[in-house]
Amino acid sequence: MFEITVLGLICFCILSIVWFTLKTGISPMPSSAKMCRAMLEASEQAAEGCIIDLGSGWGTLLFSLARKYPERQIIGYEQSWLPWLYAQLYKSIFRLHHVKIYRANFLTADFPSYTLLVCYLYPQGMQLLQQKLLSDQYSKALLISNTFALPETKPIETIRLDDLYQTPIYLYQLK
Ligand SMILES: C[S@@+](CC[C@H](N)C(=O)[O-])C[C@H]1O[C@@H](n2cnc3c(N)ncnc32)[C@H](O)[C@@H]1O
Repeated sequence: MFEITVLGLICFCILSIVWFTLKTGISPMPSSAKMCRAMLEASEQAAEGCIIDLGSGWGTLLFSLARKYPERQIIGYEQSWLPWLYAQLYKSIFRLHHVKIYRANFLTADFPSYTLLVCYLYPQGMQLLQQKLLSDQYSKALLISNTFALPETKPIETIRLDDLYQTPIYLYQLK
């Protein structure tokens, strides 16, 4: 009976990840250590204010930012409940009171004022983000995008990682 319950729970978790991957268009694959390092370094160009991770997944990048900036407000939006739950537990265990993680679609969320956006999405997600950024009134901010570019905005800088795919990290000045 115990084995069946555990197996059922594992199947439920796997199905949930697959369901939200199909729904959002991307799996909760975390940024690699190299990606995180490059994005953390680039984040220094927006030296103060609130930071938002658009699709925070398991919190890999979110918590790296939270450790680097203990005095800043760090916000994550994540739709997939399992990575969101894991990140909530991590945040509680490590008492990261300056971190908030919303289980919500960032495309329909009202952001608080921020100075830095970070994301690791996919081509269509970048198109949707571009529309949100164009249609809403946002403050002057930096956007750092892992791997995928905004379709209609020219980056101020593109960092190429020293990895197998020479992964690009795009930096955009918004407004
Ligand atoms: C590739 S993961 C990146 C995770 C994390 N940002 C990192 O760099 O380690 C992308 C995440 O974005 C989430 N996501 C995609 N579209 C979203 C949306 N519109 N609202 C909230 N989360 C979204 C997915 O569920 C997935 O967990």
